[in-house]
Amino acid sequence: MTSITMTRPDDWHLHLRDGEALAAVVGDTARQFSRAIIMPNLRPPVTTTEQALAYREHILTAVAGAGVAAERFTPLMTLYLTNNTSAEEIRLAKASGHVYAVKLYPAGATTNSDAGVTDLLGHCTAALEALQACGMPLLVHGEVTDPGIDVFDREAIFIDRVMVPLRRAFPELKVVFEHITTREGAHYVRDAEGPVAATITPQHMLYNRNALFTGGVRPHWYCLPILKREVHREALVEAATGGSPRFFLGTDSAPHARGLKEHACGCAGCYTALHAMALYAQAFEAVDRLDKLEAFASFHGPDFYGLPRNTDTLTLVREETRVPDELPFGNTTLVPLAAGESLAWRALVDTATA
Ligand code: DOR
Ligand code: ZN
Repeated sequence: MTSITMTRPDDWHLHLRDGEALAAVVGDTARQFSRAIIMPNLRPPVTTTEQALAYREHILTAVAGAGVAAERFTPLMTLYLTNNTSAEEIRLAKASGHVYAVKLYPAGATTNSDAGVTDLLGHCTAALEALQACGMPLLVHGEVTDPGIDVFDREAIFIDRVMVPLRRAFPELKVVFEHITTREGAHYVRDAEGPVAATITPQHMLYNRNALFTGGVRPHWYCLPILKREVHREALVEAATGGSPRFFLGTDSAPHARGLKEHACGCAGCYTALHAMALYAQAFEAVDRLDKLEAFASFHGPDFYGLPRNTDTLTLVREETRVPDELPFGNTTLVPLAAGESLAWRALVDTATA
């Protein structure tokens, strides 16, 4: 096979930041994807509909600045759930027509999560009831934050401590278990009853935790939830490529300046927006399942969210392409995942806007 033309994909989990960082990265996503679910973990976090609408305007301006026509890319906004999010705020979000989901960050779990939730069923039942009633998905960063729990076990323990009680209390609530990284996560979503789905990143399909330490500590492979053992990678590949509508594409592309990754206390996040579809193609081809890529990237996400599938296309060509060593990022630079390595596929993006 030398090329694949598929329904244009969407990215159901993306960090765009704001200001100069946003301007530097948004074109990479907008040239490949039609829509993206925009994460709200800015500083300060996007906790109200009013803030989400203002942030959306920044994104649309940045898309135009990147030379991509406005109708080519739609940001799907989210709110950041706090202990104080009201049912009224959820209803306002739904009524805005631009907010598509609410994101749960357990307080302290990851980048800019200090304003997150400390006790989901203790503080957030009014917001969860409103979400369930209006059919808006709750997007979950699924890791416990208990420092006594090993960092590699935090997702599996989250299932028992938070996910199961949440879904027992709100069985009709749509839940997306974001960026799953374990066999336990994949099997939970595969087997659970009710409206539950999961996003899977390219890094968790391509690498196991050895990638963090090959030849020394490699900070550009550090993200949260952290890469796990090979058995978990294999379970994620099986989930993503198996054709189940419960699994769909979410890159979790999360840009950080080079100096903040290559640091004594480096930030979590892999930058994959530039070459996202090439990375996924590499992972699907490795198990001979390229025929399942379109459904994972372009069908299962909109079907779960209750949105129409895209009608235009994206073409990937089989052409060895070297991932750049670094990219401009405001007044600094950014190192993409797999910098300097070769990928077998390349997305044909509109060169007039590239
Ligand atoms: O690696 C990560 N980076 N995981 C997250 O949950 C947040 C993200 C970020 O915002 O940088
Ligand atoms: Zn994320």
